[in-house]
Amino acid sequence: MKKERENFGSRAAVIMAMAGSAIGLGNIWRFPYMVGEYGGAAFIVVYIFASLLLALPIFFAESIIGRRSGANTFGAMETLAPRTRWKWLGLLTIVSPVIILSYYSVVGGWSVEYLFKALAFDFAAASDAEVTGFFGRFIASTWQPVVAHTVFLATVAGIVLAGVKKGIEKFTKATMPVLFVLIVLIAAYSLTLPGSRGGVDYLLRPDFSKLTPSVVAAAMGQAFFSLSLGVGTILTYASYMRKDENLLASGLGTAASDLFFAVLAGFAVVPAVFAAGLAPGAGPGLVFETLPYIFHKMGATLPWASAIIAIVFFLTILVAALTSAISMLEVGVAYLTEEKGMDRRAATWALTAFAWVVGVLCSLSFGPLSHVHLLGNPLFDFLDKLCSNWLLPLGGLLFTLFVGWKMPRADVYDEFTNGGTLRANLLLFPLVHFLIRYAAPVGIFVVFLTDLLL
Ligand code: PHE
Repeated sequence: MKKERENFGSRAAVIMAMAGSAIGLGNIWRFPYMVGEYGGAAFIVVYIFASLLLALPIFFAESIIGRRSGANTFGAMETLAPRTRWKWLGLLTIVSPVIILSYYSVVGGWSVEYLFKALAFDFAAASDAEVTGFFGRFIASTWQPVVAHTVFLATVAGIVLAGVKKGIEKFTKATMPVLFVLIVLIAAYSLTLPGSRGGVDYLLRPDFSKLTPSVVAAAMGQAFFSLSLGVGTILTYASYMRKDENLLASGLGTAASDLFFAVLAGFAVVPAVFAAGLAPGAGPGLVFETLPYIFHKMGATLPWASAIIAIVFFLTILVAALTSAISMLEVGVAYLTEEKGMDRRAATWALTAFAWVVGVLCSLSFGPLSHVHLLGNPLFDFLDKLCSNWLLPLGGLLFTLFVGWKMPRADVYDEFTNGGTLRANLLLFPLVHFLIRYAAPVGIFVVFLTDLLL
């Protein structure tokens, strides 16, 4: 017996929740340092193409599967392709989001720590070198980041426990617009810093000689990570959508806001990186070294504005991270409650405990465990690469194959166009179906292969 399932209350709520999942540390933390690590504007160009041609079709594929089946990722496969090997896809996409959650929560913890620093007015008081050097000392320590990770993860669990409507929906609706305004303000300020010009060039002048297969693979991975694809998150959220909602509109709305956000974050961070004399390829710490620098500089002339913006900023980063993290946890919780008959509480805590343990190891991999390497990478980097470059694209590839080749075209048509009633969807259906059936799977496969072989 299936339980009554909750639904998102309105169209705005669905787009907000999906955008809440998509917009997160992927945009603000990961995107700028990937841009810095993989050569600037050329990476951004590939990222935009990958978002439109590969990621968006997966987004549609996941939404079609989710809403058609009205089930969690495993149940969706069982409903639409009963007793086939597709159930493994269902299972894969339950495991991968919990792995992401484990290291994501470590970075979420960093933002908790920085919020406290902002509240203590730390950024204004320190010297330039102290401000940019703090991050390195902080992550290399043992306890502080682990405590922060714990606080973050416990908050995520608490929200998920409150359920879809009361927890996730309310939370997201209230916070996304604030984040948007702030990131625009910070980008504008960052562009006024002396020395920021080099960063603008870095973001706008592509040097295509820097493009290698691994740059393309990283850009594709970033596009999938940023849109929460290939791990059943969008599928699960779509399963909470009402039948009269528009899959095209919610997909385009989410993708556009996500892309816009990433680029804005790039403009907030990269020019300031140049102004601060940091290296754009500094890695996962980039944002956490740069933003304090921005607030520090601002503090010299506008102490109050700087303090307030710093507090609100880290608070909103934290919220953006939370709305993404809850979407990772929700995938597994939906599975355990609907398929395994667990109650929501037990399911939430079981998955949280797993993510906590792995997250602690990830956190320590910046400090006491930094000498332990898996395939040449410390655990944190290993898991991040494993997920973004392999598991997400693999999940995405399989979702497009499922919708493109396994589901009857008539069903896909019916779901995408709401039974033939939506005009724009009817018009675009042939293109979308082509992208799902051919372009996306072939594209992902080629990127995979060249990255492996070259
Ligand atoms: N898209 C989220 C972000 O950008 C991360 C995420 C990945 C969320 C996969 C859910 C699933 O922060």
